[in-house]
Formats: sequence, structure tokens, C-alpha cells
Amino acid sequence: MKHMAAEAALDYIEVGDVVGVGTGSTANAFIDLLPNIKGKIDGTVASSKATEDRLRQYGFPILNLNRTGSLPIYVDGADEATRNKHLIKGGGGALTREKIVAAASEKFVCIVDKTKLVDVLGEFPLAIEVIPLAQSLVSRAVIKLGGQPELRTGFTTDNGNIIIDVRNLDLKDATTVESTLNHITGVVSNGIFAKRPADVLIVGNEGQVDTY
Ligand code: 5RP
Repeated sequence: MKHMAAEAALDYIEVGDVVGVGTGSTANAFIDLLPNIKGKIDGTVASSKATEDRLRQYGFPILNLNRTGSLPIYVDGADEATRNKHLIKGGGGALTREKIVAAASEKFVCIVDKTKLVDVLGEFPLAIEVIPLAQSLVSRAVIKLGGQPELRTGFTTDNGNIIIDVRNLDLKDATTVESTLNHITGVVSNGIFAKRPADVLIVGNEGQVDTY
């Protein structure tokens, strides 16, 4: 189902595109298909070191987002997605760079399998990237908001920070919670993608893809 969603995303790539590429197993399925359209792509921008390594193995040029300007397209997976294209991301801990590349892209194509489709976000723990010094400060603030924070042990982000996974937050108004969390001092970013949602959501189902 991941492969089917990844394959459908290829249709959104146009000749000469510089493609932003996400992180995780679904994004990897997409990367593994990119050699089929290698001639169309002018370059790639990676959302993590892991993605950069994988793209490099296939011989794709990796470009610096500070040099490319805005990108025509970004393709990435998600941990949860609603039909109105709000997402939870960050299961792989790459949320901040993913958010940056998504923000810099004209079209964000999100590819998921059907297990990720939900009516309301919030079952999957919400990742928050935090400056290490602020771990306790941020955890206390999250508890005040009703969340249950847990440090992701043995994990450091590509930016040298920690991840706090939060359960039990009410995400019915995902846009507001995204902003509230971003305003806690010490938070780098959080895994709600509602202020900048996906533009296209491709859901791999048994034998077909559904597009929203
Ligand atoms: C990484 C992410 C991934 O997109 C998300 O965790 C989904 O991963 P997978 O495709 O392996 O299920 O946000 O930070």
C-alpha cells in the first residue's frame, strides 16, 4: 500500500523539477521509484541525513535549500492524516527539517497507507523537537496543556536536539495546538502539520489509491 501511494506520487513530478524528499519507510519507497524518472528530475532536497544518504546511493544530486529557492514539489509520508490533509509527522524524528522543506514547497504531496487515515488527529504520540536544556521546562508546559510527555530515549535529531513524545493532547483544533506548542520556549517545532497542511493526500488502499 505504501508502494502504491509512492508510485502515484510520481505523476505529480514534472520535467525539470527539483524534488523535496521526506523521511521514513513510505518516503523510502518513493525514493526507490525515483530512478524510473531520473531524466525528469533536476535535483533533490533531502529532509534528513538518512534520506540524503539514500538519494546519494541512487546518484541523485542533493541541493541546499538555501540555494534552490522555493521548490515545486515535496513528497513525504505521515504518521496520521485526515481527509482535510492535516497531518501528524515526526515518528522518525525528522519533523523540523520536514516542516522547513514543506514550507518552502509549492505543492506538498503526502503519501500514506490506509492505516494512517484518521478522522481526528491524536492517537499517534505527537513528537516535539526541543532544545536539550529545555526538556523539563517544556515537559511541565505540556502537562499544563493536558498532555503526557515522554522523552524519546537514545535519540538525537539531525539538528542535535531531543524529541519529547506527547500523548493525550486534544487535537480537534490542530492549528491552534500547533501554534500553542510552538510558543513554548525551548520548542523547536512540533509534528502537527495543520498551518501548512498537505496539498494532496494519496492513500494506498488494497488494489487502489484514494486521492484527497
Ligand atoms: C518522519 C516522518 C515520517 O513521515 C512518518 O514517521 C511516517 O513514516 P513511515 O512512512 O515510515 O510510516 O514524519 O519524521
